[in-house]
Amino acid sequence: MEIFLDTASIEDVVFWESFIDGVTTNPSLIAKSGAEDYEVLVKEICQLVRGPVSLEVLSEKYETMLTEGRRIAKINSNICVKLPCTFDGLRVCKELSLEGISTNMTLCFSSAQALLAAKCGATYVSPFVGRLEDVGHDGIHLLEEVLDLYNQQGYETRVLAASIRSLQHVIQAAMLGVDAITLPPLILRQCFEHPLTWKGLEIFANDLKKRK
Ligand code: G3P
Repeated sequence: MEIFLDTASIEDVVFWESFIDGVTTNPSLIAKSGAEDYEVLVKEICQLVRGPVSLEVLSEKYETMLTEGRRIAKINSNICVKLPCTFDGLRVCKELSLEGISTNMTLCFSSAQALLAAKCGATYVSPFVGRLEDVGHDGIHLLEEVLDLYNQQGYETRVLAASIRSLQHVIQAAMLGVDAITLPPLILRQCFEHPLTWKGLEIFANDLKKRK
């Protein structure tokens, strides 16, 4: 399973570099980074990681989205163009896929959207677990359904669990067999932190002191 960091912060990417296979950004994360020129920021992130770096288009209409997608794909060879699961976004996905550009279909909230993303040749599809749960739906069930559907139909689009809000989400997604997951730095930190580990270290250190 690939682990991506959900961030647009250079510091985060440098700090977590040993654990991650790539990075996903979104317009909110880029705004939060305070970067004046987001393309310069993303270029820098692309130099720091070998794997895919998802960068989202800002346009909403087919023509402009297509032009923007082609332009941002040229920023670096590891750019993955992030597109919304809309009518226009899916059409752009099909076109970019035919051109050999890698894509990540974002804001996926249903298996039907995931089906179309695969039909359009998406490299990744990103079902949003947390945001579905925010509105009372079962985000983990969506992952399960998309994985089953792709398996039944033999689609190669990779399932990327997104909008991950807890350690439980991480383990549930991993156990279902998702191809990739994107984690905010806070959740990645929670993956290794355990109070008993710290307590154990303290006990070992104290025992050693006693021996002296
Ligand atoms: O990058 C997309 C996704 O992971 C956003 O997560 O927590 O803002 O719903 P969240």
